[in-house]
Amino acid sequence: MTAGANADLQTRWPYPRILAHRGGGALAPENTMAGMREAHARRMRGVEFDVMLAADGIPILMHDTELGRTVPGVGDLGAFDSEELGRMDAGAWFSPHFQGEPVPRLEDAVQWLRRHDVWMNIEIKPMPGHDVDTAEVVGQMVQDLFADVSDPTRRPLFSSFSVKALDAARETAPGIPRGLLVEGVPPDWESRLRSLGCVSLHCRHDRLDAGLARHIKTAGYGLMCYTVNDPARARELFSWGVDALCTDRYDVIGADFR
Ligand code: G3P
Ligand code: MG
Repeated sequence: MTAGANADLQTRWPYPRILAHRGGGALAPENTMAGMREAHARRMRGVEFDVMLAADGIPILMHDTELGRTVPGVGDLGAFDSEELGRMDAGAWFSPHFQGEPVPRLEDAVQWLRRHDVWMNIEIKPMPGHDVDTAEVVGQMVQDLFADVSDPTRRPLFSSFSVKALDAARETAPGIPRGLLVEGVPPDWESRLRSLGCVSLHCRHDRLDAGLARHIKTAGYGLMCYTVNDPARARELFSWGVDALCTDRYDVIGADFR
């Protein structure tokens, strides 16, 4: 990406303003293709989802590092390869209707979302100690999958809580922009964004106030808040200049929410 294009991404948010959190949000199992299909069926134009590496080094969609919540079992998820995870049931925990929904591979999810014209905020969520290799594998894969897309606003946005992962993603995939994920906004947010070459800050909505939002926007960065499920709160955040929201409730805060 050219320096000019990067500056352009920093001064505005050229992406969808409402993102389906973990794809499925509250409507379908998180980080599954059923979740992506639900978001698309409800005309969502953007999704956020989480990515980590399976034992065989293949990136998969998953939030937790342990089995037990969204896939049955106990123990470390990193002990299983992507094929084993693909045979696990990531849907039954949500409802019997989704029984048998597999853990998807990143490549399959990206290709499906691209075909259906759904924009992606790909959260790199490494298992402990795997910040760099996760970002390198995910970065290379996504850069290759979007090599034919010249419009930077139509490429995904990476985000991560891991500074090491963001640094590695920048090295491996300079053409894919990055956002820094935080819970509360740290006092040194601006120097962190600058040194990581990030275009946006993604923070918990309940850790932001109007003044802070104004500073971040005035500095020229994109600002995304998670996880906003109340329409009145969503309106308030937009009135502060927040660019985008991640929501579980895209049935009430949908793509065309104002
Ligand atoms: O990217 C926003 C949000 O997804 C970060 O939190 O735990 O849901 O991945 P988490
Ligand atoms: Mg996430």
